[in-house]
Amino acid sequence: MLKTYNCGIGMILVVNKSEQKKCIELLRIGGEQSYVIGQVTKRNSQAVIVRNFDKAANKNVLAIHQPVKPIAIQAKKKVAVLISGSGTNLKAIIDHVNNNKFNTAIELSLVIADKSTAKGIQFAQDAGIPTRIITKSKTQSRKEYDMSLHEELLKHKIEVVCLAGFMKILSEQFVNLWLGRIVNIHPSLLPSFKGMDAYGQALKAGVKVTGCTVHFVIPEMDAGQIILQEPIRINADDTHDSLAQRGKAVEHTVYPQALELVCSSRVSMKF
Ligand code: GRF
Repeated sequence: MLKTYNCGIGMILVVNKSEQKKCIELLRIGGEQSYVIGQVTKRNSQAVIVRNFDKAANKNVLAIHQPVKPIAIQAKKKVAVLISGSGTNLKAIIDHVNNNKFNTAIELSLVIADKSTAKGIQFAQDAGIPTRIITKSKTQSRKEYDMSLHEELLKHKIEVVCLAGFMKILSEQFVNLWLGRIVNIHPSLLPSFKGMDAYGQALKAGVKVTGCTVHFVIPEMDAGQIILQEPIRINADDTHDSLAQRGKAVEHTVYPQALELVCSSRVSMKF
């Protein structure tokens, strides 16, 4: 039986004895438990002899019941995502983080919506991310509102702010406080079609290619340094809906990648 079945062993690594400790430690960092179950020796008989199998198996079964907390290899940055609407980009980022738990530099720490009707807030709640709804009162100036955002971000020790369909224009003071640490996604190949309804603008202009851009935010709208861009072909029979639907799918792959570049410090804003 010992020759035929793996007896619950998922994988065997054969390593040099001098590297044994290092290998176990690396596997532990990656969230895997490993045990020394034997050694390769020169064969001096025809049969495979397994010594101390029962003892080793019992010891390991006990050990397996003690959960190990995997240690993340990647240093992470605390990210806040600001939304106003459907939050599909937020959802794409949540899925990306969940699918790359041990290899992401993004720590989703806060989601802020500027209205309680923002549908995307549900994605954050489902994922167990703290959420805040910060609405602007009629008596508040834009600067005062932005400062309430700023305070909430500081409270959560946020390091990177990610705008994902956040429909408020942020004041110069706020943007300057977060300069180099605030990013946005825009549904066009900037610098073309800045501002509202970029898909509509592209259709109206009759261009055959548009796309999306993730960029650093500066006080001037949609004008910050570009982090990533991806083109989308416009077909002759495209409507606003069909283009936006294809465009959104592309946005959902580009935004997590760009955020990853920023959070891992592989890309930073040039001052
Ligand atoms: C996206 O098209 C994004 O490019 C723009 O706002 C939209 C947000 O969509 N800035 P969603 O809320 O992420 O679905």
